[in-house]
Amino acid sequence: MNTRILTLMDAASKDSIALGAEYIRQGQVVAFPTETVYGLGADALNPQAVLRIFEAKGRPADNPLIVHIDAFEDLLFLTAEIPQTARRLAEAFWPGPLTLIFPKSAQVPDAVTAGLPTVAVRIPDHWAARALIRQSGCPIGAPSANRSGRPSPTCADHVWEDMQGRIPLILDGGGTQVGLESTVLDITSDPPVLLRPGGVTLEMLQTLLPQVVVDPGVLAPVLRGAVKSPGMKYQHYAPQAPMHIFRGPVDKLIPRIRQEAAAACGRGETPGILATEETKDAYGAGIVLSMGARQKPGEMAAALFARLREFDRLGVDIIFAEGVDQAREGLAVMNRLARAAGFRIEEAGVE
Ligand code: TXA
Ligand code: MG
Repeated sequence: MNTRILTLMDAASKDSIALGAEYIRQGQVVAFPTETVYGLGADALNPQAVLRIFEAKGRPADNPLIVHIDAFEDLLFLTAEIPQTARRLAEAFWPGPLTLIFPKSAQVPDAVTAGLPTVAVRIPDHWAARALIRQSGCPIGAPSANRSGRPSPTCADHVWEDMQGRIPLILDGGGTQVGLESTVLDITSDPPVLLRPGGVTLEMLQTLLPQVVVDPGVLAPVLRGAVKSPGMKYQHYAPQAPMHIFRGPVDKLIPRIRQEAAAACGRGETPGILATEETKDAYGAGIVLSMGARQKPGEMAAALFARLREFDRLGVDIIFAEGVDQAREGLAVMNRLARAAGFRIEEAGVE
């Protein structure tokens, strides 16, 4: 299959969206930008089209998709009931990087929800995503537009790396703003449970829902059978080289990473070090990339996936990553790092 990339940053962008909408109506798969990461979209109400997403991505069939809508009223078709909590959350955070879990209606195909009785929904905060949904005339089911297991794409080049030859069209809206996937919140349980942290932070949710709880799977591996969100089972976001995280005060983790990097060099390997603006000059050996400033977790979130893909391009053999503070977007950064590292996390300075 020939894959076209059309830019949304010139005068012809309306035609490009119209072409994308035509593909979606025909049951094809189109990659498009959102404010979080690029999505791999198809008509959420067409099971054949949805299966094409799973094929293109190489995604396990038991991992459900997020359904993207353009207006709050579109929810009425997808869920049997809209709780008051959903109205308050939507008012505060939609359009935006927050996905809510609802009991699904009969209209939502099992292919989208992987057979679950619930459906994940969000309104993205990106003009092109919203225009594509409107013009397609259907809700769009879309996972992140990476091959399964790879870091999510934050620009059209990343989508191209993973999807060339597998889908007919990539709509290029430039770099995404948030850089990590949406926050996933299960409001079918009481109290609501944070299943995946993202751009709408735990602190932001707590202003409306003081009782919200964080699922233990957010920062630790989940035991089989105990998984609330199927996505939690899989290793995710992984660069090609094995990754290890060191957590703790910077004056402890820098010497620990230096020691590991020196040992890697001694074995003839090229280590990659995922550092921060404050610490990036503290390492003598290895290829050092910075996620951003420790005091600006949103900046680190936006850069993380591009840095992981950069390590692949540079061909490092092993990656040592600094852990960061878990406040605000830092929780989402640590969640993605922990999964990318297969939960290999060491507390630096703890004997
Ligand atoms: O920002 C985002 O959320 C992006 C853009 C494209 O919107 N999409 C995205 O989709 O990250 P995906 O498929 O990569 O992640 C969806 C997550 C998975 O962890 C999945 O298991 C979970 O949402 N999920 C979907 N439906 C669910 C449900 N009914 N119950 C619990 N978790 C669900
Ligand atoms: Mg994904």
